[in-house]
Amino acid sequence: MRDFRYPRGTGLQDRIEGFYKWQNLRRNQGLWPFSRSTDEGPSTVCAARDDSGQKIHGVNFASQDYLSLSSHPEIKKVAQQVIEVFGVHSAGSAALVGNTSHSVLLERKIAEFCGMPEAILFPTGWAAGYGVIKGLVRSGDHIVMDALAHTCLQEGANAATKNIYLFRHNQVAECRKWLEKIRAKDVENGIMVVTEGLFSMDSDTPDIVGLQELCHEFNATLVVDVAHDMGCLGEDGRGHIGMQGMLGKVDLIMGSFSKTFGSNGGFVACRNREVKEYLRFYSPPCTFSNALSPMQAATVLKAFEIIESDEGRQLREKMMANILSLRAQLVEAGFEVYGDPSAIVCVKMGSEALARLVARRLPEQGLIANLVEFPAVPKGQARFRMQVMANHTPQNIADAVARLKAAYDQGFAEFEWMNQEPEALQATA
Ligand SMILES: Cc1ncc(COP(=O)(O)O)c(C=O)c1O
Repeated sequence: MRDFRYPRGTGLQDRIEGFYKWQNLRRNQGLWPFSRSTDEGPSTVCAARDDSGQKIHGVNFASQDYLSLSSHPEIKKVAQQVIEVFGVHSAGSAALVGNTSHSVLLERKIAEFCGMPEAILFPTGWAAGYGVIKGLVRSGDHIVMDALAHTCLQEGANAATKNIYLFRHNQVAECRKWLEKIRAKDVENGIMVVTEGLFSMDSDTPDIVGLQELCHEFNATLVVDVAHDMGCLGEDGRGHIGMQGMLGKVDLIMGSFSKTFGSNGGFVACRNREVKEYLRFYSPPCTFSNALSPMQAATVLKAFEIIESDEGRQLREKMMANILSLRAQLVEAGFEVYGDPSAIVCVKMGSEALARLVARRLPEQGLIANLVEFPAVPKGQARFRMQVMANHTPQNIADAVARLKAAYDQGFAEFEWMNQEPEALQATA
C-alpha cells in the first residue's frame, strides 16, 4: 500500500492507476479482503459481500460494536422517536444552529462521564482527533507523540506543525527525553503530548499517570484518545483513564462513538469552557462541518444511559468473558495473540503472504475477520484483528477459532508449497 502513497507525475488522476492495477491483481486471486459490506448490519453472525459483490456469510468478528448497542431495542426505539420529531439531519454546523437539545445534553453527559468540566462534539472520532490537535497547536508549537498513534492524530499533527517528535510505543522515558530537549531550547511555545488509552492494533496501554506527570513537569498538554476503551473497559466503563485513577486529571480526552456507543461521532472533553468555545470556532472539522444528526446524538445519549446502568455493567462483563474465552481458545489452537485483554483480539500471522493466503480461506470457512497488514502495522507483523461483541455466544467463539484454524492450516500448506525450492516446486506441480 505504501508504494502508492506518493505517486509521481503531473496527472493527478492518471498517476494513481498503479494502485488499482495492484489491487486488481490481488482481487483476481481472491487476496483482497477489504471494502466489504454487510447485508444486515453488524450482527454476530451476518451476511456480507466482498467488493466484487460476492456473498459471504459467517460469524462476524470484524465489526466495531463492542457492547452490541447498535441493535439494542431501546436505542432503536429512541432513534425512531427522535426521527419523528427532528427528522434525520442536523442541517448545520455546531458553530451555527446544528446542535439540538439532544446534542447539548450529550455534551453535558460526556463531560460528567469523563469527570471533566466540559465536552464538545465532533462529527466523527477522526474529526475529533484531527481537530483537537489542529484546533490548539500552531506552527511554532511542538507535538510529542507515540509512534503508533492513530492516523487521525498523526494527520492532525502534520497539519498543525512541522515540529513533531515520535517516541517509541509506550516508552515514557523516551517521551521525557524529547520534552527535555524541546524545553532546553524553547520555553515560549506549547507542547502537546499525544497517546491512546488503548492502542487499536496492539491492544496495549500507556502509563497515563506517568505521561500526565511529565506534562505537568514540562508545561505540556496531554491528549489521550480513548476510542477503544471508553465505555467498554473497567468496571464502571471509564476505560484505562478510570482504571489508572486519572478520571478528571487528564488535560484533554478525545473519543469516538463508533466502537462502543453504536453510532458515528466523536468528542473532546476538556478542562474549561474557554477550551470548548475555542475548539468550536477554531477547530475546522467542528466549525465547518455539519453536526451529528439529532438521531445520532440521542442514541449516543441513550447508550451512555445503558453503559452507566446495571445492564451496562453486565454487557461489559459479558464482553470481557467473551474476550478471555476467545484469547484462551486461540492460544489453545496454537495461535499467538497480542497485548492485554480488550475487545481487540489481534492474532499473529507474521508474513503478509501467509496472512493473505489465510484470509482468502476465511469466507469459505464462514468467518469474517479483518486482515491488518503493512503499513497499518510494521512489515512482517501481519495479523487478524478480531473484534469482540457482548452478544457473541460461546458457540460463535468456538466456531471462529475452529474456522480460523482450518483456514490457517490450508493457507499455511499453500504458503509452504509456494516457498519450496524451485526444483521441488516443479516436481510437485
Ligand atoms: C484510536 C482511534 N481513534 C480514532 C478513530 C476514529 O474514530 P471514528 O471511526 O469515529 O472516526 C479510530 C477509528 O478507527 C481509532 O481506532
